[in-house]
Amino acid sequence: MLRKNYRIAHISDTHITKYGQFDENVFNMGLEALDMLSPKPDILVHTGDLTDNGILPDYELAADSLKSVKYKYIIAPGNHDEKNYGHSLFKEMFGSLDFEVDEDWAKFVVLNSPEPDRDEGRLGRRRQIYLEEVLRSTPNEKLKVVVFHHHLVPVPYSGREVNVLEDAGDVLDLILQNHVNLVLMGHRHVRHVIKIDETVLVNAGTFSCIRTRGHFLHSFNVIDILSDGTIKISEVDIKTKEEKLLKSFQSRRFE
Ligand SMILES: [Fe+2]
Ligand SMILES: [Fe+2]
Repeated sequence: MLRKNYRIAHISDTHITKYGQFDENVFNMGLEALDMLSPKPDILVHTGDLTDNGILPDYELAADSLKSVKYKYIIAPGNHDEKNYGHSLFKEMFGSLDFEVDEDWAKFVVLNSPEPDRDEGRLGRRRQIYLEEVLRSTPNEKLKVVVFHHHLVPVPYSGREVNVLEDAGDVLDLILQNHVNLVLMGHRHVRHVIKIDETVLVNAGTFSCIRTRGHFLHSFNVIDILSDGTIKISEVDIKTKEEKLLKSFQSRRFE
C-alpha cells in the first residue's frame, strides 16, 4: 500500500526545433498548463521525440526550453532524437539512454527503443534482460513503471499501423509476467489507454508538434496513483486547459 497519493505528468513528442514541426506557442501554453496542475506532479515523464531533427540547435533549444520546468523530469529518447547522430547529443545533454530512477514509491525503468536514423523501434535481447533484472529486484510495494518511446500495442485513431515495437510480443510478455503497473509511451501523437491483465499501457498525444491527428490535438496526460491502488489517467487539453478523465482502474499489485 502506498503511503499517499502520487501524480505523474506524462508528456511526449514535443519535437522542439527552430526549423520544422514545432509549435512554440503551444509548447509555452503546455508549460503553463503543467504549472497550473493541482495537486502538483511528483515527477514529469517525457516519452521521447524531445527534438524534431536530433541536431545540435534542436538540443540546445530543448535544454533551454526545459529550464522553466519546475518538476523533476525524466526523458526517454525517441526516433527523432536519434536522427543525425542525435543520440550522442542526447547523452551529453540529458544523460543515459537507458536508466532507472528509484523513488521511494516507484521504480521507473527508461529504455531506448529507437536506433540511429530509423523510425522503427525495438528493445532487443540485451535490454529485455536488463529490464527483467530490474523488475525482479524491485519490491512489489513499489509502483513499477516502464518508459519507452515506441508503442507496445497498436494505437487506434492514428492511421495505418506502423512502428509498433519490433519485439513487442516478447516485451509485452516480460512486462505482464513481472506485474508492471504502468507502461508509458508516445510516438503516435494520439493518447490512448488500455489495460492488459494487471498492466496499464498509456500513450501520450503530442505536446507541441504541428502533426496532430484528426481531432486529437495538443495534450498531455496526468496519471494519479491513489493510496488505495486506483490508477486514474486523465488528459489535459493544452489550449483549453481542460482535464478529462480517460480511464480509471484498480491495481492489485504494490500492496
Ligand atoms: Fe513524434
Ligand atoms: Fe516518434
